[in-house]
Amino acid sequence: MPRLTGMAFPSTRLRRLRQTSLLRDMVRETELTPSHLVQPMFVELGTDSRTPIEAMPGVERMSISHAVEEAGRAHALGVPAVLLFGVPAEKDERGSGAYDDEGVVQLAVRAIKDAHPELVVITDVCLCAYTSHGHCGVIRADGAVDNDVSLELLARTAISHAVAGADAVAPSDMMDGRVGALRAQLDAEDHKDTPIVAYSAKFASAFYGPFRDAVDSAPASGDRRTYQMDPANSDEAVREALLDVEEGADVVMVKPALPYLDVIRRVKEATRVPVAAYSVSGEYAMIEAAAAAGYLDRRAAVLEALTSIRRAGADIVITYHARQVAEWLQ
Ligand code: PBG
Repeated sequence: MPRLTGMAFPSTRLRRLRQTSLLRDMVRETELTPSHLVQPMFVELGTDSRTPIEAMPGVERMSISHAVEEAGRAHALGVPAVLLFGVPAEKDERGSGAYDDEGVVQLAVRAIKDAHPELVVITDVCLCAYTSHGHCGVIRADGAVDNDVSLELLARTAISHAVAGADAVAPSDMMDGRVGALRAQLDAEDHKDTPIVAYSAKFASAFYGPFRDAVDSAPASGDRRTYQMDPANSDEAVREALLDVEEGADVVMVKPALPYLDVIRRVKEATRVPVAAYSVSGEYAMIEAAAAAGYLDRRAAVLEALTSIRRAGADIVITYHARQVAEWLQ
């Protein structure tokens, strides 16, 4: 019989080890470093503007010159990549600003790559910020999203980003077959080396609220539930991710992150490809609002949340706190 009194259990011993800092680092299972983070940025037309976003204190829409500066700052702090969203001056039925070679994202990509060639520039590929109705695709006469016409326009968008110099494209629309359509078009037009970061498991989430204010993309009617996923489903998320890998996705994404940690883990285990998790606008807003009210320690809450997302299995974490975290971790 083992004698149980007076001896330290392994877990107690480990907890003691953690109190000395070098050992603590050696036994820590998950690392949060800037090298895993992606900084999303909202770029608008105009010459010298910074427009605060009400529901995302500390985040601004920026003109290209400011975006170049901000991107450089993040890069200098060790954040390897930015994810660009465009806020166009005008919107129309077919979202033509999304695939305009002189559109806001295309211009921003050129300017950022010129100034910071080593910074990885990823572009969000979607129509919702560019359509007058705010849906991610083209709307048919009967009011439904026309999947196949939308695919053509999304592929055109991805090509125009690649031509501008984007290092990777990230389709976030959730139309059926979009990864395959983008892959085929990129290959056909001499962009075989441009990777696709697929928003594979994108849930129909209330946590996108502040983002829709940021780019003014709340659907004018209906919602995105016909093409985004039911928060109750995780088998479906795994199926979507596996399908995207089959269609040619290089990285698969789960979004939002914090309410879907189990999905991140399952997708990582099922696909064994790099997994990105998008800690979305509502996750950012939640912590910022609670911290501003004095209910949470901002820094501790942000670091804990992001570490948990990494622990769940995310190789890449897209977060509006990226630059801030890189500053803290210096
Ligand atoms: C566009 C898109 C959205 C987000 C990223 N790409 C909004 C949406 O689907 O409504 C949300 C990002 C965030 O909330 O931070 N399809």
